[in-house]
Amino acid sequence: MEPAEEPIVARLSGLVRVLLLLTAALVLVVVVVLTQFYGPASPPPPPPVAEADEGPPPSGSYHRPATPAPDTATIPRTAAGRQIRYGRDLIAHTARYLGPQGSVAHLTNGMNCQNCHLDAGTKGFANNYLAVAATYPKLRARSGTMVTTQMRVNDCVERSLNGRALADSSREMRAIVAYINWLGHDIPKGKKVYGTGFTKLAYLPRAADPVVGKAVFATKCQSCHGPNGEGKQLADGREYQYPPLWGKHSYNDGAGLYRISNLAKYVKAAMPFGAAFDHPQLTDAQAWDVAAFVNSQPRPHLNTPRDWPDISKKPVDHPFGPYTDSFSERQHKYGPYQPIEDAHPQLAKAK
Ligand code: HEC
Ligand code: HEC
Repeated sequence: MEPAEEPIVARLSGLVRVLLLLTAALVLVVVVVLTQFYGPASPPPPPPVAEADEGPPPSGSYHRPATPAPDTATIPRTAAGRQIRYGRDLIAHTARYLGPQGSVAHLTNGMNCQNCHLDAGTKGFANNYLAVAATYPKLRARSGTMVTTQMRVNDCVERSLNGRALADSSREMRAIVAYINWLGHDIPKGKKVYGTGFTKLAYLPRAADPVVGKAVFATKCQSCHGPNGEGKQLADGREYQYPPLWGKHSYNDGAGLYRISNLAKYVKAAMPFGAAFDHPQLTDAQAWDVAAFVNSQPRPHLNTPRDWPDISKKPVDHPFGPYTDSFSERQHKYGPYQPIEDAHPQLAKAK
């Protein structure tokens, strides 16, 4: 009798083994299906990549580096190289040569080009010069004419530095242009460079508010720029350590920074000193409001009767009329800007 039992037990345990295997296979299939659809198997989508000519998104969560400037160690050790180095020094320490105590001439207000064109005009979204060689001479709507690099430099000398123009043939103008052209020598004609100009900044749904901006200034800016925005000179008195934000030594009301959008974008990507376009320290609203405050303070006036010969091309935040629309000068200066932009679809496209 005994041997007859063997095959039944064997057959039963064989059946159990098959069942176990089937269950295991089923569990495996379920696990694979589940992880495919819900699990961490598929990687998160990569962050969106912006177009070459776009600023970073306002959040600042951006990883792409701005186009780097060429290494100054590659400036040739020749007469041409010496001229480029002199140009770089003129950008970084303008006041030492051309300011009220300047060694070459007394033409400017004591600020340096570098105060607004950070790192000698090379920092990303801090108004760098990398695109200049590839884009000038160019047609500018402000003047309604073709503008050479020399004319554009003198625009900043006369407005941002509230000074008197340099002669095109002067040693200083030739050096500045040589440096700017060297910075852009690798950029093909007409190509847009990521990191030039300013960062993008969304409009506020309201007007920028100088009263709120005053409080931003007190907590975020005053420690360096002074309680009256007057800045602070270096000990030798020939150059600013912290440049003035308003008052008689600051940029005049014909300067690019006198437009609140330009100042807000600059400040968002560059201030307080140490901030960067991918590491901003202010919210968008703080940038707009502090810009409204700074550009409400007294500063030198420049008569610019020839600016904007075609008034339909004035940017929405150009603070001086006449305009082709019926919005007030105040709304053009402080906003809200969206309704003005909506009335000028051609300006929105050109932006
Ligand atoms: C107070 C700030 C400030 C100072 C100081 C300043 N600039 Fe500017 N500069 C600007 C702003 C803002 C713009 C762009 C504004 C615009 O296009 O409306 C600009 C634009 C330029 C451009 C054109 C850049 C381009 O890509 O089109 C050049 C070139 C330039 N500046 C040269 C100089 C030089 C050289 C100096 C010193 C002699 C100087 N700037 C000093 C604020 C300044
Ligand atoms: C830690 C010191 C410091 C703080 C804080 C600071 N800045 Fe500046 N700021 C500087 C320096 C330094 C420069 C000039 C940079 C250079 O020449 O390299 C400058 C330049 C500027 C310029 C361009 C030149 C001019 O004088 O017009 C503006 C505008 C400006 N700062 C605005 C602000 C605003 C607005 C704040 C507050 C949100 C602020 N800064 C906070 C140090 C500071």
